[in-house]
Amino acid sequence: MDRIAPILLDWYDREGRDLPWRRTRDPYRIWLSEVILQQTRVAQGLDYYLRFTARFPDPGALAAASEDEVLKLWQGLGYYSRARNLHAAAKQVAERFGGIFPRTFDEVRSLRGVGDYTAAAVCSIAYDLPCAVVDGNVYRVLARLFDLAEPIDTTAGRRLFAELAQAELDLRHPGRYNQAIMDFGALQCTPAQPQCDTCPLAERCLALGAGTVGQRPVKQGRTKVRDRWFHYLHIVCGDRTVLCRREGRDIWQGLWEFPMIETDGAADFAALCRTEAFRAWTGAGEWRLVRSVVMPPHRLSHQALHAVFHRIETAAFAPAARCGAVPVERLGDYAVPRLVERYLERADDGASADQRSR
Ligand code: ADE
Repeated sequence: MDRIAPILLDWYDREGRDLPWRRTRDPYRIWLSEVILQQTRVAQGLDYYLRFTARFPDPGALAAASEDEVLKLWQGLGYYSRARNLHAAAKQVAERFGGIFPRTFDEVRSLRGVGDYTAAAVCSIAYDLPCAVVDGNVYRVLARLFDLAEPIDTTAGRRLFAELAQAELDLRHPGRYNQAIMDFGALQCTPAQPQCDTCPLAERCLALGAGTVGQRPVKQGRTKVRDRWFHYLHIVCGDRTVLCRREGRDIWQGLWEFPMIETDGAADFAALCRTEAFRAWTGAGEWRLVRSVVMPPHRLSHQALHAVFHRIETAAFAPAARCGAVPVERLGDYAVPRLVERYLERADDGASADQRSR
């Protein structure tokens, strides 16, 4: 059968998106764009890319930044371990490679947070190395073109698709080919309502012929979602509030949030008041519950967070370790999870989002 590469490249010439990271061969910038694009769509990622490259024009600048600053710039993208890995990888480039982004697949792959996908994307786009990328778009395009019912979320399935992607790669233009097939998946061969009517590969699309486009790709199983119940204490004392830095091997490591009590199930405020943790946070002094805000369930990839924010006013407080009394108007300087940001956007006090610096 004819190769799909010429058709994809031809389509890409006409329909491909003109993006700033496609106008450079700087591996550092291409890597930044790829890490950001794993987290968000192109439209939103563009803004983050421009901010990151303006503030950190090279790996040395990123390596020299504080983790707080990197997390703050990443805020809103979620999955903060990616931002911490980004920072750690820049330090590796500075320390192990003298500030020069590595040039071989294995060296790039050895950087923190860089997996097969990112290494293949950077090496093909920046260096024209013959490495095929496999992301969600590529799975979908190949599963449909070849009408493959092999699940994409099993070891055997991943191997099959990786081999097929590599076999279809255009060895003369690997970087352009990889971007072409990803754009094709994002714009033409979309998950819902693919544009089969105008598809240049329609004639050779086996799923279109078989009427299985809507069933491709196949996924074996859904990942289990864990429910968690978070009770935030938005403690206000005069013009200050308390923020704590998250530590440990859990979500949002390194980010800031209000003092939080986690319970095994839903709990009302009266039950919360009876906990040791609540007494520790509010101390022996007087306090007053101003309001409780129940947030809509907040979905992460494997967790559903049920959060309630209790605004409590006190006459005095003594923040515990890892926590600080923060002036309300400085809240915007701290990298907070999107959930906390959403609450602050709703709160109609001095901490409302439009008054916070970004
Ligand atoms: N998604 C992630 N990286 C991409 C790229 N370089 N081109 C198109 N889509 C992408």
